[in-house]
Amino acid sequence: MSASGQRIHWASRMGFILAAAGSAVGLGNIWKFPYITGVHGGGAFVLVYLACIALVGMPIMMAEFLIGRHGQRDPVGSFESLAGKGSPWKLVGWGAVAASFILLSFYAVVAGWSLDYVVKAATGALAGRPAEEISNLFGQLVSSPWQVIFWQALFMVLTMAIVHGGVGKGIERWSKILMPLLFLLLLLLFGRAMLSPGAKEGLAFMFAPDFSKLTPAALLDALGHAFFTLSLGAGSMITYGSYLDARSDLFSLSLRITVLDTLIAMFAGLAIFPIVFAAGLEPSAGPGLVFQTIPIVFSELPFGSVLALLFFLLFAFAALSSSISMLEVSVAYLIDEKNWPRPRATWLLGSGALLLGIPSALSFNRWSEVKPLFGKTFFDFFDMLISSYMLPLGGLCVAVYAGWFWKGEEEKTELLGERKRPWLFPLWHFLLRYVAPAAVLIIILNQTGVFGA
Ligand code: PFF
Repeated sequence: MSASGQRIHWASRMGFILAAAGSAVGLGNIWKFPYITGVHGGGAFVLVYLACIALVGMPIMMAEFLIGRHGQRDPVGSFESLAGKGSPWKLVGWGAVAASFILLSFYAVVAGWSLDYVVKAATGALAGRPAEEISNLFGQLVSSPWQVIFWQALFMVLTMAIVHGGVGKGIERWSKILMPLLFLLLLLLFGRAMLSPGAKEGLAFMFAPDFSKLTPAALLDALGHAFFTLSLGAGSMITYGSYLDARSDLFSLSLRITVLDTLIAMFAGLAIFPIVFAAGLEPSAGPGLVFQTIPIVFSELPFGSVLALLFFLLFAFAALSSSISMLEVSVAYLIDEKNWPRPRATWLLGSGALLLGIPSALSFNRWSEVKPLFGKTFFDFFDMLISSYMLPLGGLCVAVYAGWFWKGEEEKTELLGERKRPWLFPLWHFLLRYVAPAAVLIIILNQTGVFGA
């Protein structure tokens, strides 16, 4: 594509920021961050997470954009154009294609739940019920295999329909409308949460660190989640970066995207925990947390059904702008490397991801006791494989490549262009060379028990 000079580029800088932020802001922020923070006991986990974002996540995001923009191809092609045709670095591109594909398969299951809640809210099923009944609705949904698969399939069809049309206009236009709305709604929820009797307890839970609660598993989750929430290690940011032109300022773009993503995760936590405490629910409720608490909050508010409807709609759109970026990775691979037409690549890969996701959909019901892999259900196994291992490992390889193997001068010019920021390159390089690899290695080795118990 790049050779023929026809590669599509983002229509505007804002379009890129919103598309990349759309990829970053997703279930990770609104669903997963609050629930893993709850499981790991709050404050101390949040601090470690923020450190992982600043010291490891953002530098790697810059590296991914840089690799994609330089290569002007999908992740496999971009590594090939940087490191040479037969280079083993292409494997990193392959790993990214595989990771984004597997991730999409189970991401769509959870995203599908939000579609069901859109319908529940629209039909008034969440209104005027006692808290306990609302919270039980979640169990009823996930225990029905057909319902879960139906919503998962619908979500996949939406994802494929958008990717089919090309990322450009669809995503850019929709992101511009949806992201600010999502932010506004979260602020509203946050305001409501701060007025609830659980506000103090919720704030303390998020911000008063209790380091005795920091287990090795919590550290691994914090780092894994930094990759997950910034869409790193799965090729999405390499692919989106490949649609950038040479003049873009990658540092300021990455900073904006990272800050936006972090703010939205914080507000989601601050909107949810006070309500959880006020309602006497457990912060460690796990994957059902958002689905059980948010509808309870809304059911007590004036116009609660409308608010719940908007919330789950925006939740679904946030998930959609992320899932598109996952599918786009393997679609770009087939288009760029194998010259496939976009529609064929999209529908074939999308259907494949849907099929692969079915065991994950069954993990909450028919196969909830089927634990063939490491004593985990398919869903939990795939989640662990991707969030705890493949994304951090993919990010580690990107860091090692950009930190140690890319020729310094070429890389520096690519990063800085005409700009003068004498501190930027050395600092970035230092984080990529030492901090990011050390963090990933120590935590992964710790998890696999190399350091003993
Ligand atoms: N960042 C997304 C979220 O927080 O939901 C998930 C994600 C998207 C991860 C794309 C990886 C990826 F390549």
